[in-house]
Amino acid sequence: MIDTENLTRKFDNLIAVENLNLHIEKGEVFGFLGPNGAGKTTTIRMLACLIAPTKGSAMVAGYNIIKDPLKVRQSAGILTENPSLYERLTAYENMDFFAQAYGINSITVRQSRIQELLEFFHLWERRNDRVGGFSKGMKQKLAIVRAIVHKPPVLFLDEPTAGLDPESAKEIRDMITKLSQHEKSTILLSTHHLEDAEKLCRRVLIMDKGRCLLVGTPDELRKKISTTPAIEVVLTKVTPEILAAIETNKKALEINQQGTRLLINVEDTHVATPEIVRAIVEKKGQILSVNAVRPSLEDAYLKLVKGEEIS
Ligand SMILES: Nc1ncnc2c1ncn2[C@@H]1O[C@H](COP(=O)(O)OP(=O)(O)OP(=O)(O)O)[C@@H](O)[C@H]1O
Ligand SMILES: [Mg+2]
Repeated sequence: MIDTENLTRKFDNLIAVENLNLHIEKGEVFGFLGPNGAGKTTTIRMLACLIAPTKGSAMVAGYNIIKDPLKVRQSAGILTENPSLYERLTAYENMDFFAQAYGINSITVRQSRIQELLEFFHLWERRNDRVGGFSKGMKQKLAIVRAIVHKPPVLFLDEPTAGLDPESAKEIRDMITKLSQHEKSTILLSTHHLEDAEKLCRRVLIMDKGRCLLVGTPDELRKKISTTPAIEVVLTKVTPEILAAIETNKKALEINQQGTRLLINVEDTHVATPEIVRAIVEKKGQILSVNAVRPSLEDAYLKLVKGEEIS
């Protein structure tokens, strides 16, 4: 659904995006991660035909962004970093304005589409309220709904959850999931929230200084960073006997104790966990929980953008 070939954009001497090659399948939710200035917004703006590439090209929904920008715009919806809604207009009027701008000329078609969308995303009751009085989260929801009024097969969302409280951010994530399932949209989103990437995206791309550092599923990225596996055991009480029993077990490489929580470095959590649990139970330890500690996507991300080696 989205294919780029050496997509590049310069601003004077600054290379904002450099030779980006990317392939996004139909129906995929794809995430762009990267620090400020990485080139996420610039990439999205090129793909949505808001700015032209300096070099390279891309196909979006079957259309070339250089040869067919109008067709691309019709096939894509975009939520920009600062979505501008008309604050003096009501939610419905905003929707209607954009529906007309997208060439939906029939009033009845517009009405039914707007009603369907506002109802589906729980904004229908507020349709006659002015947007100026909406909360940031509601504005963001409306801006996303507005972006899909013309049923575009491709949707670009630039930081859809930026500046939202956890509950509103979750609502937006739920909305994106619904869109992906209900409208079968192909969604490219940029985010600084690794939780978004983890929960929504089938694959993510990590970029920095205009270059793609890595593409993969969140799981693949996590697995690529090499950290020592560890087991976390929480007990009701940690006695010297329990500690000694774990220490003498060859599977335990190092033990860190924080109160009743033990973090035990091991070579392989699958092999070590049963043995260590047995050693604790034999010393009458009462276990509250046992977890294999896995590196987070955040660990992988931070390692990558700091330029550390990953395996
Ligand atoms: N219109 C412009 N004129 C000059 N430089 C620009 C312009 N737009 C972007 N840049 C530069 O291109 C680089 C990439 O910017 P971009 O906005 O794409 O980053 P980003 O990954 O979206 O960052 P953020 O996470 O802060 O939104 C930055 O160095 C930025 O200063
Ligand atoms: Mg940006």
